[in-house]
Amino acid sequence: MTGQPAFVVAIDGPAASGKGTLARKIAEHYGLAHLDTGALYRAVAFKVLENGANPEDLEAALAASAALDADLLQSEALRTDQVGKAASVVAAMPEVRAAILDYQRNFATNPPAGLRGAVLDGRDIGTVVCPDARVKFFITATVDARTDRRFKELADRGLPVTRDEVKQDLVARDRRDAERDISPLRQDAHAHLLDTTKLSIEAAFAAVRAIIDETL
Ligand code: DC
Repeated sequence: MTGQPAFVVAIDGPAASGKGTLARKIAEHYGLAHLDTGALYRAVAFKVLENGANPEDLEAALAASAALDADLLQSEALRTDQVGKAASVVAAMPEVRAAILDYQRNFATNPPAGLRGAVLDGRDIGTVVCPDARVKFFITATVDARTDRRFKELADRGLPVTRDEVKQDLVARDRRDAERDISPLRQDAHAHLLDTTKLSIEAAFAAVRAIIDETL
């Protein structure tokens, strides 16, 4: 240990804005650990559903968040729309957020495998989880652009949904994430705003790299 604080990059934004792809690319390029914090809420929701409980049931959600299984975070089973919807319900519970906060902060301050820092992506990373992050981004795109991306992703995986269903779902989830009382989705005052509606992944990545390089 050098005693240097970890280099933390915070990335927030709505669903299907491109933040997850950018977070992975940043982690790979700069040799940082990556935590998709949405997967934590998805893992809690998945466990609740697996136990046959209702995602609105606070006790069931709390029990699932206390027994968070790190191995589950990479599972494809978290990537369904049903789990995403249930995740936004459990994510509105302050008790669930508190249980998950320590896990996220610990990951940011003590990145695994001795890496020098971490990239965390989610909804409240720059505002609540890592307010002292070295670089913060708020990644966004229009609802239609995000619908097209999510629809393609689900269709490519053979999941039977219509574009209209995907759009309705995104709009409902945006509303729940942005209007909840605790840690709502919002841009931190120090976050760099990037609208990816008309950008390729490479162009978006070049834009974030230019900003990170300035702070290194
Ligand atoms: O990004 P995602 O679709 O995997 O996130 C799933 C849900 O988790 C989403 O509806 C909002 C919630 N979430 C959150 O409230 N805070 C985070 N830091 C990350 C995700």
